[in-house]
Order: sequence, then structure tokens, then C-alpha cells
Amino acid sequence: MLRIDRPGPDQAARVRAVRLRALRDAPDAFCTTAEEEERSTDADWRDRLTRPDAVTVVASLDGADVGLAVGAPHHDEAGDVGLYAVWVAPEARGAGVGEALIRAVADWARARGHAYLRLEVGDANAPAVRLYDRLGFAPTGRTSAFPPPRAHITEHERALPLRPPAPPAGGRPHGAGSAALPPPRAG
Ligand SMILES: CC(C)(COP(=O)(O)OP(=O)(O)OC[C@H]1O[C@@H](n2cnc3c(N)ncnc32)[C@H](O)[C@@H]1OP(=O)(O)O)[C@@H](O)C(=O)NCCC(=O)NCCS
Repeated sequence: MLRIDRPGPDQAARVRAVRLRALRDAPDAFCTTAEEEERSTDADWRDRLTRPDAVTVVASLDGADVGLAVGAPHHDEAGDVGLYAVWVAPEARGAGVGEALIRAVADWARARGHAYLRLEVGDANAPAVRLYDRLGFAPTGRTSAFPPPRAHITEHERALPLRPPAPPAGGRPHGAGSAALPPPRAG
């Protein structure tokens, strides 16, 4: 059974272990390296898991941790939430775990009144691009690259609107569909 937990500071070691596994498994998907993360301690993770302006969600399947996602204040756009550290273990991919993690972060951000959930994804990261496309994250036109020596890894930004569009002045209101994530896939 799939569970999505929101671990508190008492589970710092658990979250750190999932994050380290993610960075070792998919080094090109993340700007942070496993070496950098190895220097962070359980105490650092306790601090991160205590922040009132951020959320960390962990997915487990039948009791084994298989995924992670973090929502935190966006590094550039004040007032928006950044979606960071999205990872699903290879043995759990293709089953909707990533979607469940992202929905949990989007629900958290929406409940706090944020307008956009933003992320950066590698241009060559086809599975992630497919997932974000399906969930309604649209390219914003902003591009970036990892710092040297990984400057060959280029990314583009995507954003998901979390609020219904404002009705046109004097006109009929739009439907709310474009601000909502599409319904979960069957199966
Ligand atoms: C990107 C990632 C989070 C997707 O998670 P997921 O739970 O497999 O997501 P989904 O089940 O919705 O599948 C997403 C896409 O992955 C691909 N996929 C499906 N099964 C797969 C499998 N067994 N192995 C690899 N990719 C698979 C498909 O293209 C799928 O899109 P589709 O269903 O529209 O065809 C996961 O592949 C991952 O952790 N990758 C490494 C880390 C990473 O890239 N993180 C994102 C950083 S921006």
C-alpha cells in the first residue's frame, strides 16, 4: 500500500537516508551532490523538518521508503513555492508515486494560499518532463544550467497555477479547471 507521510523532526535520519539514496541514484537530476548532502547532519535535517514555511513528504510502499519531495519558499519568486528534491526509487517508478508526492506538496501550497508551484527540470530528463506535463506544469521560458563542472546539464523552469484564474472584468467567470491538477489516473 502506498503511503505519503509528512515526517516531523523526529524522523530526520529517515529523510536524510532517502535524500542520500536519491542523490546517489540520480546525480544528474539534482544540483546538490551526494557529497554535499553527506556533510549535512541529522541535526540539519531536524532544522529543515521544523521549518513552518516548508514541507517534506516521503512515500512508502508496503513499509519501505520509495520517494521524496520538498516544497519550500521559491529561491527567486517571493510568495511562490518551489518544488524540490522530487525522487522515486527505481523499483517504484511508473506507478504514480511521483504524482502522489507532487499532489501532496501542491495541496499543502494551495492550502497556504500560494499562487504558483515552480520547479526546474533537466531538458534531457524525459520521465520527469512527462510527469510534470501531465500534471499541468507549463514551461515559463526561463532556463538555467548547473554550475561548473556540470554546466552541460541544462534545465527549464515550469510552473503550476494553484488558484483559479481571475474572471475577466465584466465577463463570465472562467472554469476552474486550469488551476487544478488533472484527476488521478485510474489503476
Ligand atoms: C521523474 C520521477 C520522479 C517520476 O516518478 P514516477 O513515480 O515514476 O512517475 P510516473 O509513474 O508518473 O511516471 C512518469 C513517467 O516516467 C516514465 N516511466 C514509467 N515507468 C517507468 C519506469 N519503470 N522506469 C522509469 N521511467 C518510467 C514514463 O515516461 C512516465 O510518464 P507516462 O506515464 O506519461 O508515460 C522518477 O522517474 C525519478 O525519480 N527520476 C529520478 C529523479 C528525477 O529525475 N527527479 C526529478 C527532478 S526534476
